[in-house]
Amino acid sequence: MRILLTGWNGQLGWELHERLKGCFEVIAAGREDMDIQNPAEMCDILRRLPELSLIVNCAAFTDVDRAEREPRRTERINAGGPAILASEADKRGIPMIHFSTDYVFDGSRAAHGRFSGKRQSGKHIKPYTEEDRPDPLSVYGRSKLAGERRVRELCEKHLIFRLSGLYGTRRGNFLTTMLKYALSGETPRVVDDQIISPNWCPMIAGAAEHVIHRILSGRKTEWGIYHLTGTGGTTWHEFARLIFEKTSLLWDKPLVIPETVSSREYGALAGRPAYSVMNPDKFVNTFGYSPPDWKTQFLHCMGTISKEYTVGRHGRQASPSSSPRIR
Ligand SMILES: NC(=O)c1ccc[n+]([C@@H]2O[C@H](COP(=O)([O-])OP(=O)(O)OC[C@H]3O[C@@H](n4cnc5c(N)ncnc54)[C@H](OP(=O)(O)O)[C@@H]3O)[C@@H](O)[C@H]2O)c1
Repeated sequence: MRILLTGWNGQLGWELHERLKGCFEVIAAGREDMDIQNPAEMCDILRRLPELSLIVNCAAFTDVDRAEREPRRTERINAGGPAILASEADKRGIPMIHFSTDYVFDGSRAAHGRFSGKRQSGKHIKPYTEEDRPDPLSVYGRSKLAGERRVRELCEKHLIFRLSGLYGTRRGNFLTTMLKYALSGETPRVVDDQIISPNWCPMIAGAAEHVIHRILSGRKTEWGIYHLTGTGGTTWHEFARLIFEKTSLLWDKPLVIPETVSSREYGALAGRPAYSVMNPDKFVNTFGYSPPDWKTQFLHCMGTISKEYTVGRHGRQASPSSSPRIR
Protein backbone atom coordinates (compact mmCIF):
# COMPACT_ATOMS: atom_id res chain seq x y z
CA MET A 1 0.00 0.00 0.00
CA ARG A 2 1.25 3.42 -0.93
CA ILE A 3 1.01 6.55 1.27
CA LEU A 4 1.77 10.13 0.26
CA LEU A 5 3.35 11.86 3.28
CA THR A 6 3.85 15.61 2.96
CA GLY A 7 6.04 17.60 5.36
CA TRP A 8 8.06 14.42 6.01
CA ASN A 9 11.01 16.41 7.32
CA GLY A 10 9.06 18.32 9.99
CA GLN A 11 8.82 17.27 13.64
CA LEU A 12 5.80 15.06 13.20
CA GLY A 13 6.39 14.08 9.58
CA TRP A 14 9.82 12.71 10.38
CA GLU A 15 8.57 10.61 13.30
CA LEU A 16 5.70 9.27 11.21
CA HIS A 17 7.97 8.49 8.29
CA GLU A 18 10.27 6.50 10.57
CA ARG A 19 7.31 4.43 11.73
CA LEU A 20 5.57 3.90 8.43
CA LYS A 21 8.42 3.26 6.02
CA GLY A 22 8.91 -0.33 7.18
CA CYS A 23 5.26 -1.29 6.66
CA PHE A 24 4.12 0.73 3.64
CA GLU A 25 5.54 2.30 0.53
CA VAL A 26 5.80 5.90 1.69
CA ILE A 27 6.18 8.66 -0.88
CA ALA A 28 7.91 11.26 1.26
CA ALA A 29 7.33 14.77 -0.05
CA GLY A 30 9.29 17.71 1.28
CA ARG A 31 8.97 21.35 0.33
CA GLU A 32 11.58 20.87 -2.41
CA ASP A 33 9.51 18.05 -3.93
CA MET A 34 6.09 19.68 -3.82
CA ASP A 35 5.56 23.23 -2.60
CA ILE A 36 2.09 23.12 -1.08
CA GLN A 37 1.55 26.83 -1.58
CA ASN A 38 1.79 26.36 -5.33
CA PRO A 39 -1.51 24.90 -6.63
CA ALA A 40 -0.36 24.47 -10.22
CA GLU A 41 2.76 22.55 -9.17
CA MET A 42 0.73 20.44 -6.74
CA CYS A 43 -1.92 19.51 -9.29
CA ASP A 44 0.71 18.60 -11.85
CA ILE A 45 2.63 16.39 -9.40
CA LEU A 46 -0.47 14.77 -7.91
CA ARG A 47 -1.76 13.91 -11.37
CA ARG A 48 1.43 11.98 -12.07
CA LEU A 49 1.47 10.08 -8.77
CA PRO A 50 0.75 6.36 -8.96
CA GLU A 51 -2.06 4.66 -7.10
CA LEU A 52 -2.31 5.82 -3.48
CA SER A 53 -4.12 4.33 -0.48
CA LEU A 54 -3.83 7.34 1.85
CA ILE A 55 -2.66 10.96 1.97
CA VAL A 56 -1.13 12.20 5.23
CA ASN A 57 -0.48 15.94 5.40
CA CYS A 58 2.17 16.96 7.92
CA ALA A 59 3.20 20.06 5.96
CA ALA A 60 2.26 23.35 7.58
CA PHE A 61 3.45 26.89 8.26
CA THR A 62 3.99 26.60 12.02
CA ASP A 63 5.83 29.81 12.95
CA VAL A 64 2.97 31.39 14.90
CA ASP A 65 4.51 34.87 15.23
CA ARG A 66 5.90 35.08 11.70
CA ALA A 67 2.45 34.15 10.42
CA GLU A 68 1.20 37.55 11.65
CA ARG A 69 3.55 39.22 9.17
CA GLU A 70 2.86 36.76 6.35
CA PRO A 71 -0.87 36.06 6.50
CA ARG A 72 -1.30 35.30 2.81
CA ARG A 73 1.53 32.79 2.69
CA THR A 74 0.28 31.21 5.92
CA GLU A 75 -3.22 30.84 4.47
CA ARG A 76 -1.88 29.32 1.24
CA ILE A 77 0.16 26.70 3.13
CA ASN A 78 -2.27 25.92 5.96
CA ALA A 79 -5.55 26.08 4.03
CA GLY A 80 -4.92 26.24 0.26
CA GLY A 81 -2.49 23.30 0.11
CA PRO A 82 -4.61 21.03 2.34
CA ALA A 83 -7.64 21.85 0.16
CA ILE A 84 -5.87 20.55 -2.95
CA LEU A 85 -4.73 17.40 -1.13
CA ALA A 86 -8.28 16.86 0.17
CA SER A 87 -9.78 17.21 -3.32
CA GLU A 88 -7.24 14.76 -4.67
CA ALA A 89 -7.96 12.22 -1.92
CA ASP A 90 -11.69 12.54 -2.50
CA LYS A 91 -11.31 12.18 -6.27
CA ARG A 92 -9.40 8.94 -5.70
CA GLY A 93 -11.86 7.78 -3.02
CA ILE A 94 -9.07 7.43 -0.45
CA PRO A 95 -8.81 8.87 3.09
CA MET A 96 -6.79 11.90 4.09
CA ILE A 97 -5.26 12.55 7.51
CA HIS A 98 -4.64 16.21 8.30
CA PHE A 99 -3.30 17.87 11.46
CA SER A 100 -4.61 20.99 13.13
CA THR A 101 -4.02 22.81 16.38
CA ASP A 102 -5.30 23.76 19.83
CA TYR A 103 -4.73 27.38 18.73
CA VAL A 104 -8.12 27.28 16.97
CA PHE A 105 -9.52 27.99 20.47
CA ASP A 106 -9.44 31.40 22.13
CA GLY A 107 -8.86 30.14 25.68
CA SER A 108 -11.47 32.49 27.08
CA ARG A 109 -12.79 29.78 29.41
CA ALA A 110 -9.67 30.39 31.53
CA ALA A 111 -11.26 33.65 32.63
CA HIS A 112 -14.26 31.74 33.98
CA GLY A 113 -12.28 29.00 35.75
CA ARG A 114 -10.24 29.28 38.91
CA PHE A 115 -7.00 30.04 37.09
CA SER A 116 -5.05 32.58 39.12
CA GLY A 117 -2.22 32.96 36.65
CA LYS A 118 0.63 31.45 38.66
CA ARG A 119 1.78 27.86 38.78
CA GLN A 120 -1.57 26.40 37.96
CA SER A 121 -2.43 23.46 35.80
CA GLY A 122 -5.93 24.75 35.09
CA LYS A 123 -7.31 21.59 36.71
CA HIS A 124 -10.66 23.24 37.39
CA ILE A 125 -11.22 24.35 33.83
CA LYS A 126 -12.92 21.93 31.44
CA PRO A 127 -10.68 20.90 28.53
CA TYR A 128 -12.00 21.72 25.05
CA THR A 129 -13.96 19.03 23.24
CA GLU A 130 -14.57 18.69 19.50
CA GLU A 131 -18.03 20.21 20.10
CA ASP A 132 -16.61 23.49 21.40
CA ARG A 133 -16.69 26.47 19.10
CA PRO A 134 -13.29 27.51 17.75
CA ASP A 135 -12.44 31.20 17.76
CA PRO A 136 -8.75 31.65 16.98
CA LEU A 137 -6.73 34.63 18.19
CA SER A 138 -4.00 34.56 15.55
CA VAL A 139 -3.36 34.40 11.81
CA TYR A 140 -1.91 30.91 12.35
CA GLY A 141 -4.99 29.72 14.26
CA ARG A 142 -7.35 31.19 11.65
CA SER A 143 -5.41 29.60 8.80
CA LYS A 144 -5.48 26.20 10.51
CA LEU A 145 -9.20 26.51 11.15
CA ALA A 146 -9.71 27.41 7.48
CA GLY A 147 -7.63 24.33 6.58
CA GLU A 148 -9.85 22.12 8.76
CA ARG A 149 -12.95 23.48 7.05
CA ARG A 150 -11.58 22.97 3.55
CA VAL A 151 -10.53 19.39 4.30
CA ARG A 152 -13.96 18.61 5.80
CA GLU A 153 -15.79 20.14 2.85
CA LEU A 154 -13.66 18.56 0.14
CA CYS A 155 -12.84 15.07 1.38
CA GLU A 156 -15.47 12.72 2.69
CA LYS A 157 -12.99 10.30 4.25
CA HIS A 158 -11.10 12.81 6.38
CA LEU A 159 -9.47 12.55 9.78
CA ILE A 160 -8.38 15.84 11.30
CA PHE A 161 -6.29 15.49 14.42
CA ARG A 162 -5.92 18.64 16.51
CA LEU A 163 -2.53 18.57 18.27
CA SER A 164 -0.95 20.74 20.90
CA GLY A 165 2.51 21.72 22.19
CA LEU A 166 4.60 19.30 20.12
CA TYR A 167 8.19 18.83 21.24
CA GLY A 168 11.01 16.43 20.53
CA THR A 169 14.71 16.43 19.81
CA ARG A 170 14.46 17.33 16.13
CA ARG A 171 14.18 20.88 14.81
CA GLY A 172 13.54 23.89 17.02
CA ASN A 173 10.80 23.52 19.60
CA PHE A 174 10.16 24.46 23.23
CA LEU A 175 12.14 21.50 24.61
CA THR A 176 15.21 22.05 22.45
CA THR A 177 15.17 25.77 23.26
CA MET A 178 14.93 25.15 27.02
CA LEU A 179 17.59 22.42 26.91
CA LYS A 180 19.92 24.85 25.23
CA TYR A 181 19.35 27.41 28.00
CA ALA A 182 19.62 24.80 30.74
CA LEU A 183 22.84 23.31 29.42
CA SER A 184 24.45 26.71 28.92
CA GLY A 185 23.35 28.00 32.36
CA GLU A 186 21.34 30.91 30.94
CA THR A 187 18.06 31.99 32.55
CA PRO A 188 15.20 32.48 30.10
CA ARG A 189 11.95 34.35 30.71
CA VAL A 190 8.98 32.05 30.21
CA VAL A 191 5.30 32.94 30.19
CA ASP A 192 3.29 31.66 33.14
CA ASP A 193 -0.23 32.61 32.08
CA GLN A 194 -0.88 30.19 29.24
CA ILE A 195 -2.00 26.66 30.10
CA ILE A 196 -1.20 24.16 27.39
CA SER A 197 -0.80 20.44 27.01
CA PRO A 198 2.75 19.56 25.92
CA ASN A 199 2.98 16.44 23.77
CA TRP A 200 6.07 14.42 22.88
CA CYS A 201 6.16 14.02 19.13
CA PRO A 202 7.01 10.27 19.07
CA MET A 203 3.94 9.58 21.27
CA ILE A 204 1.66 11.49 18.92
CA ALA A 205 3.25 9.85 15.88
CA GLY A 206 2.66 6.46 17.55
CA ALA A 207 -1.02 7.26 17.97
CA ALA A 208 -1.32 8.39 14.34
CA GLU A 209 0.50 5.26 13.20
CA HIS A 210 -2.01 3.15 15.14
CA VAL A 211 -4.88 4.87 13.31
CA ILE A 212 -3.20 4.46 9.92
CA HIS A 213 -2.83 0.71 10.45
CA ARG A 214 -6.52 0.55 11.41
CA ILE A 215 -7.70 2.47 8.36
CA LEU A 216 -5.53 0.58 5.91
CA SER A 217 -6.54 -2.78 7.34
CA GLY A 218 -10.07 -1.90 6.28
CA ARG A 219 -11.58 -1.28 9.74
CA LYS A 220 -14.69 0.88 9.64
CA THR A 221 -13.71 4.46 10.47
CA GLU A 222 -15.72 7.33 11.85
CA TRP A 223 -14.39 10.26 9.82
CA GLY A 224 -14.18 13.68 11.48
CA ILE A 225 -12.23 15.86 13.88
CA TYR A 226 -10.43 14.46 16.92
CA HIS A 227 -8.35 15.92 19.72
CA LEU A 228 -5.15 13.92 19.77
CA THR A 229 -3.31 14.77 22.97
CA GLY A 230 -2.30 13.37 26.32
CA THR A 231 -4.42 14.45 29.25
CA GLY A 232 -3.76 17.36 31.59
CA GLY A 233 -2.04 20.67 31.16
CA THR A 234 0.52 23.00 32.60
CA THR A 235 1.92 26.47 31.99
CA TRP A 236 4.89 26.97 29.70
CA HIS A 237 6.77 28.19 32.78
CA GLU A 238 6.03 25.05 34.80
CA PHE A 239 7.01 22.93 31.84
CA ALA A 240 10.27 24.87 31.53
CA ARG A 241 10.95 24.45 35.25
CA LEU A 242 10.55 20.70 34.92
CA ILE A 243 12.92 20.63 31.95
CA PHE A 244 15.49 22.60 33.96
CA GLU A 245 15.12 20.32 36.99
CA LYS A 246 15.58 17.19 34.90
CA THR A 247 18.50 18.67 33.00
CA SER A 248 20.21 19.63 36.24
CA LEU A 249 19.86 16.06 37.53
CA LEU A 250 20.75 14.24 34.34
CA TRP A 251 23.69 16.37 33.26
CA ASP A 252 24.78 17.31 36.79
CA LYS A 253 24.39 21.03 36.11
CA PRO A 254 23.54 23.78 38.64
CA LEU A 255 19.76 24.25 38.79
CA VAL A 256 18.54 27.38 37.00
CA ILE A 257 14.99 28.57 37.65
CA PRO A 258 13.46 30.28 34.62
CA GLU A 259 12.02 33.75 35.24
CA THR A 260 8.29 34.20 34.95
CA VAL A 261 6.82 36.72 32.58
CA SER A 262 3.24 37.46 31.57
CA SER A 263 2.16 37.10 27.95
CA ARG A 264 1.61 40.86 27.88
CA GLU A 265 5.14 41.58 29.15
CA TYR A 266 6.64 39.00 26.81
CA GLY A 267 4.97 40.77 23.92
CA ALA A 268 4.81 38.02 21.28
CA LEU A 269 3.41 39.20 17.98
CA ALA A 270 0.60 36.63 17.83
CA GLY A 271 -2.15 36.23 20.40
CA ARG A 272 -2.25 32.83 22.09
CA PRO A 273 -5.02 31.25 24.16
CA ALA A 274 -4.67 31.53 27.95
CA TYR A 275 -5.97 27.96 28.08
CA SER A 276 -5.93 25.42 25.26
CA VAL A 277 -6.00 22.00 26.92
CA MET A 278 -8.09 19.57 24.86
CA ASN A 279 -10.09 16.54 25.87
CA PRO A 280 -8.90 13.39 24.05
CA ASP A 281 -11.88 11.15 25.00
CA LYS A 282 -13.34 10.99 21.51
CA PHE A 283 -10.01 9.85 20.05
CA VAL A 284 -9.42 7.32 22.85
CA ASN A 285 -12.93 5.84 22.60
CA THR A 286 -12.96 5.68 18.82
CA PHE A 287 -9.48 4.34 18.15
CA GLY A 288 -8.79 2.47 21.40
CA TYR A 289 -5.49 4.27 21.90
CA SER A 290 -4.70 6.50 24.83
CA PRO A 291 -1.66 8.81 24.75
CA PRO A 292 -0.23 9.12 28.30
CA ASP A 293 -0.75 12.30 30.35
CA TRP A 294 1.66 15.12 29.53
CA LYS A 295 4.00 14.53 32.48
CA THR A 296 4.40 10.81 31.78
CA GLN A 297 5.19 11.65 28.17
CA PHE A 298 7.81 14.15 29.29
CA LEU A 299 9.51 11.75 31.70
CA HIS A 300 9.58 9.13 28.98
CA CYS A 301 11.10 11.63 26.59
CA MET A 302 13.84 12.66 29.03
CA GLY A 303 14.57 8.98 29.69
CA THR A 304 15.29 8.43 26.03
CA ILE A 305 17.15 11.60 25.15
CA SER A 306 19.39 11.76 28.18
CA LYS A 307 21.53 8.99 26.76
CA GLU A 308 22.24 10.70 23.47
CA TYR A 309 21.61 14.43 23.68
CA THR A 310 24.30 17.09 23.49
CA VAL A 311 23.89 20.79 22.73
CA GLY A 312 23.94 21.41 19.01
CA ARG A 313 22.72 18.01 17.92
CA HIS A 314 19.04 18.85 18.09
CA GLY A 315 18.88 20.24 14.59
CA ARG A 316 19.74 16.95 12.93
CA GLN A 317 18.26 16.45 9.52
CA ALA A 318 17.74 13.24 7.65
CA SER A 319 17.06 12.05 4.18
CA PRO A 320 14.30 9.57 3.37
CA SER A 321 16.71 7.23 1.64
CA SER A 322 14.51 4.17 1.99
CA SER A 323 11.42 5.84 0.51
CA PRO A 324 10.69 6.89 -3.03
CA ARG A 325 10.76 10.63 -3.68
CA ILE A 326 8.36 12.43 -5.94
CA ARG A 327 10.87 13.44 -8.56
N1 LIG B 1 4.50 22.17 16.66
C1 LIG B 1 3.45 22.30 17.49
O1 LIG B 1 3.60 22.60 18.67
C2 LIG B 1 2.08 22.05 16.96
C3 LIG B 1 1.00 22.26 17.83
C4 LIG B 1 -0.28 22.02 17.37
C5 LIG B 1 -0.47 21.59 16.08
N2 LIG B 1 0.58 21.41 15.25
C6 LIG B 1 0.31 20.95 13.87
O2 LIG B 1 0.94 19.69 13.70
C7 LIG B 1 1.38 19.54 12.36
C8 LIG B 1 2.86 19.16 12.34
O3 LIG B 1 3.59 20.21 12.98
P1 LIG B 1 5.18 20.13 13.11
O4 LIG B 1 5.54 20.69 14.45
O5 LIG B 1 5.68 18.79 12.73
O6 LIG B 1 5.61 21.20 12.00
P2 LIG B 1 7.08 21.53 11.46
O7 LIG B 1 8.11 20.82 12.25
O8 LIG B 1 7.13 23.01 11.33
O9 LIG B 1 7.05 20.87 10.00
C9 LIG B 1 6.29 21.41 8.99
C10 LIG B 1 6.70 20.77 7.70
O10 LIG B 1 5.98 21.43 6.65
C11 LIG B 1 6.88 21.71 5.61
N3 LIG B 1 6.46 22.85 4.82
C12 LIG B 1 6.37 24.15 5.20
N4 LIG B 1 5.99 24.92 4.17
C13 LIG B 1 5.86 24.08 3.12
C14 LIG B 1 5.49 24.27 1.75
N5 LIG B 1 5.21 25.48 1.26
N6 LIG B 1 5.44 23.19 0.95
C15 LIG B 1 5.72 21.96 1.42
N7 LIG B 1 6.08 21.71 2.68
C16 LIG B 1 6.15 22.77 3.53
C17 LIG B 1 8.20 21.99 6.30
O11 LIG B 1 9.22 21.88 5.35
P3 LIG B 1 10.74 22.34 5.67
O12 LIG B 1 11.34 21.12 6.27
O13 LIG B 1 11.30 22.68 4.33
O14 LIG B 1 10.65 23.49 6.58
C18 LIG B 1 8.18 20.92 7.37
O15 LIG B 1 8.69 19.71 6.85
C19 LIG B 1 1.06 20.86 11.67
O16 LIG B 1 -0.16 20.74 11.00
C20 LIG B 1 0.91 21.85 12.81
O17 LIG B 1 0.06 22.93 12.47
C21 LIG B 1 1.86 21.62 15.66
